Amino acid sequence: MDKLLKRSAYCGTLRKENIGQTVTVDGWVAKKRNLGGLIFADIRDRSGLVQVVFGDGTPADIIEKANGLRSEYTVGVTGVVRERESKNPELETGDIEILASGLSIYAEADTPPIYIKDDDNVAGELRLKYRYLDLRKPIMQKTLAFRSKMYHVIRNFYYENGFIEVETPVLAKPTPEGARDYLVPSRVNPGKFYALPQSPQQFKQLLMVGGTDRYVQIAKCYRDEDLRADRQPEFTQIDLEMSFVDQDDIIDVQEHFLQDLFKKMLDVDIQLPLPRLTWDEAMNRYGSDKPDLRFGFELVDIADVVKDCEFKVFTDALADGGKVMGININGASEKFSRKDVDKMTESIKAYGAKGLVWIRKEEGEIRSSVGKFFDQDALAKICDKFEAKNGDLILIVSGKKEVVWASLGFLRRDLAGKLGLLDPKQFKLLWVVDFPMFEWSDEENRYMAMHHPFTSPKKEDIHYLESGELEKVYADAYDIVINGYEAGGGSIRIHDSALQQKIFEVLQLTEEDIRNRFGFFIDAFKYGAPPHGGLAFGLDRLCMLLLGTDDIRQVIAFPKNQNAQCVMSDAPTTVDAKQLDELSIDVKKGE
Ligand code: AMO
Repeated sequence: MDKLLKRSAYCGTLRKENIGQTVTVDGWVAKKRNLGGLIFADIRDRSGLVQVVFGDGTPADIIEKANGLRSEYTVGVTGVVRERESKNPELETGDIEILASGLSIYAEADTPPIYIKDDDNVAGELRLKYRYLDLRKPIMQKTLAFRSKMYHVIRNFYYENGFIEVETPVLAKPTPEGARDYLVPSRVNPGKFYALPQSPQQFKQLLMVGGTDRYVQIAKCYRDEDLRADRQPEFTQIDLEMSFVDQDDIIDVQEHFLQDLFKKMLDVDIQLPLPRLTWDEAMNRYGSDKPDLRFGFELVDIADVVKDCEFKVFTDALADGGKVMGININGASEKFSRKDVDKMTESIKAYGAKGLVWIRKEEGEIRSSVGKFFDQDALAKICDKFEAKNGDLILIVSGKKEVVWASLGFLRRDLAGKLGLLDPKQFKLLWVVDFPMFEWSDEENRYMAMHHPFTSPKKEDIHYLESGELEKVYADAYDIVINGYEAGGGSIRIHDSALQQKIFEVLQLTEEDIRNRFGFFIDAFKYGAPPHGGLAFGLDRLCMLLLGTDDIRQVIAFPKNQNAQCVMSDAPTTVDAKQLDELSIDVKKGE
């Protein structure tokens, strides 16, 4: 290897002010070209690119060496900064170049399998396979630096507000918290398993019992669940818990944190207090518990104008206790053809919708897919409910309320996207509060905790636990929603062991289950637990939102693919028989 040329400057930092200085940069060859006896090479490091020229007085042996440079060789270059003849306004260093007097080649490089430039849209899998090359892209380096600054802002804020950072175990006890656990076998305890934490939930509550008062952790969490664009099997939370507080105290601290984060990361001012919607309101107005408030298209309940109509689909839905609701996509009638509406109908089948009714309000006529059942007067009445104007497209779904909400909630956001209304630079933050405590699970055939079983039911609803009217029990639980994403969620916790026991019972956990899984936890609450509550932000999601991307993998250095694999290192893999034997594990073959 050539000798190391000690760096005096990062490539991307050089400017006009440096003209005349002798500098040394280290980095990778991004591009090389020979032009009229001169050799130009762009050298890249994590800060950006700078152009280097070999010629105009560069020693002959250095020019010869430069001739052999190829893309992605790692090099060191010494030279004088001079003004460029043809400036490049696209580049931050575009006013200057380095006239080389020295060159060291540290390592040669094979032709890279992916192009190393920001706008290279090669398939995600290939980028992940060669992630170490992908990371050389300026955008990826900027993202890593951005995320790193976030850690700094987060830690400063919480430190200044009296929070203590505590690391909780990663080898933990399996607990139900919605998703499946990742299990880790214990060699010294044959047949026993740890679980990687889905969140530090129990530990942070025990820290409150332990008197820590205000806890924060940038915590890795692990969940074996189906992956989506905003979900990873291992991800990071900003996890916190506070003692002797109520919901308003927690919300107040956390929204000040968000205000600080947006200001420091983006110089964006967030007005406080943030708006709050109850869960019921969010569902009824937006069809979602994570509504995107950057645009309108609110849901409208039209039961009162269709309850006596001849269209049985609507009247049957109402008779079954369901809903008939719709959205008005203002001015969009011409933008979506009949075929488009057919596609919408198809897409909401995934949410259980059986059909989609459309109404187009036009000059002098109202057209509709249910024109046979509604005369112009009746259609006009429906249009009035939506305050429709000429050119509007109304979409209506009927059925079980969950189906209606989910279908319209999906259409609302999908169509806003198609209409270009999702500006990533606009931020709409809100709290969704008063979540239902339980939700019915068809799969489990029982009620499950909507947030988690340690969430406190609202005081005034506790009596419904006794009467078994579980759907009437609401919780002191809240989510922070940003531009249609759940950026965080939390709750006030139960701090009374008798109530905790009751919740486990209504969740139909057996006495043995409760003892085995939560015994230690319930016991802890017998020794004086403070009223407490907390929240966890999804750090990756916050980073994603701040950077305006909708792919969580963009903001994680080494993410997993859709099948939870690391295609770079090929994890997970099989292990040899000896290792399994030590762990007392037999793997079923051929299944
Ligand atoms: P919850 O399960 O709502 O709450 O998680 C909190 C936040 O973590 C983020 N998140 C994820 N991000 C990426 N990939 C995933 N698979 C993933 N799952 C969740 C979301 C979510 O809002 N212990 C409770 C918090 C508490 O009550 O204090 C908890 O984990 O942004």
